[in-house]
Amino acid sequence: MEYEHIREQYEAQLKTWQQNPNWNRSAGVLFHFHSGFRGGAYQILKSDNPTRRSFEQMTAHIHFHHTIEDEEFFPGLQRKFNIDKKAIEKLEKDHVTIGNKEKEVHDILYKKENATQAMHEYADLLLTHLAKEEMLLMPFLLQMRSIHDL
Ligand SMILES: [Fe+2]
Ligand SMILES: [Fe+2]
Repeated sequence: MEYEHIREQYEAQLKTWQQNPNWNRSAGVLFHFHSGFRGGAYQILKSDNPTRRSFEQMTAHIHFHHTIEDEEFFPGLQRKFNIDKKAIEKLEKDHVTIGNKEKEVHDILYKKENATQAMHEYADLLLTHLAKEEMLLMPFLLQMRSIHDL
């Protein structure tokens, strides 16, 4: 589980961000979206036999979220702040990897085989991505008094 390696670091940073007076106006908006996805991922991980339904509930809004990030959110942040281009590209690559893992899960389910391991891998990829994305972007978002400033 890659997420276990960064979890502590992420949670410590989260506590600091949440004390920032701009939290509710900017960074917290991204956190709020991510929280829904995290809830789904934890559900999957705690189950020894997660259902297709719980997997689909987790993934339902993720394509939309990733598309908005790739097309609007990341370019907007890059225009406003001097964010490392390579770091943003890594996040975009994560979106592709996560999409591919979802396809893998669906292929396994289509063959009526057990997709538990692939679903767990998906959840780990997602949790790791969400934490890394926040660790890169939150320091910039916290400089904004509104998410609409992009
Ligand atoms: Fe993302
Ligand atoms: Fe995101």
